[in-house]
Amino acid sequence: MIEKTATIIDRFRRPLRYYYNARSAFKSLLAALNLRSEQSVLLPAYIGWSANEGSGVFDPIAELGLRFDFYRLDESLHIDLDHLESRLRAGNVKVLVLIHYFGYVDPQYRRAVELARRYGALVVEDEAHALFSDWVGRACGRLGDAAIFSLHKMLPIPGGMLAVAPRYEELFNGDKSEPNSFSSPWNYDFHAIAQRRRENARHLTDALKPLAEHVTPLRPTPADGEVPQTLPVMIHGHSRDALYFALNEAGFGAVSLYHTMIPQITEAQFPDAHRVSRRILNLPIHQDVEPAHLDALAAVLSDIFEGHRVCQPLIGAPRGASARKIPA
Ligand SMILES: Cc1ncc(COP(=O)(O)O)c(C=O)c1O
Repeated sequence: MIEKTATIIDRFRRPLRYYYNARSAFKSLLAALNLRSEQSVLLPAYIGWSANEGSGVFDPIAELGLRFDFYRLDESLHIDLDHLESRLRAGNVKVLVLIHYFGYVDPQYRRAVELARRYGALVVEDEAHALFSDWVGRACGRLGDAAIFSLHKMLPIPGGMLAVAPRYEELFNGDKSEPNSFSSPWNYDFHAIAQRRRENARHLTDALKPLAEHVTPLRPTPADGEVPQTLPVMIHGHSRDALYFALNEAGFGAVSLYHTMIPQITEAQFPDAHRVSRRILNLPIHQDVEPAHLDALAAVLSDIFEGHRVCQPLIGAPRGASARKIPA
């Protein structure tokens, strides 16, 4: 028998809740899960902090006073599966957080979820950077129990979003943390945005190839389904902070995710994370960017590397000026 229309309520349903940002979505989820005092949240050891923004991932955990632990990532920010398993084996992990950094999906994503299941932990996918990798690419967000999104990082609107598997929906009965009004992301053509972002990432990766001695992409060109938030690159032999300021002063909105680790992720325990944090620069490839802008950005970088353009904090600056801190 076939019904004339679909009637199975929960088939392919992804209940959504809307928030002011991803961190309030995460906090609301953690509060609803009602962890016992001995239970912990296990997070990747690459989480940043800034004076303006605090830490989007870690603040909800600190504010709720939850126990936490970290698993190691390598210098490409890929999951160290052995370390992850050792932290799960240590016991009492209620929630494993996977972060799809910059919209890219870890090669070990599936295995990390399997490990969490084996040790009885729920999986929360942090898709603050991966809105389109999820909804357009279906590259992530489907194996976990819940996913959080940062709409304002990917679209010109405020907001955050939480998707939960239908079986968790009742946890939110009576929860008042959802705002009364929100900007809907569904007024945008996700597919067109995803295509533009992927093309831009490819274009900029090509434009940077002649500069490989100084700057190398942290990820290869996006795999099927991956839609980048920014293009993460590693800077070699130059001050990342100086480049950050030079690019922004030249009108190119670069950021550094993350330029400062939260103090709980120490250099002694996680030296790779700190090395990445000192060298990473995230270049803009969003939907407003045209290929010509990216060629101009690559030309400015080339000028700086060739010494044709003054990089303020390094050249002729008083001592200490290079220690100028990158704002959020
Ligand atoms: C990986 C990641 N998750 C979550 C957040 C929090 O996002 P929001 O600013 O929407 O709270 C951020 C940014 O701070 C982030 O980079």
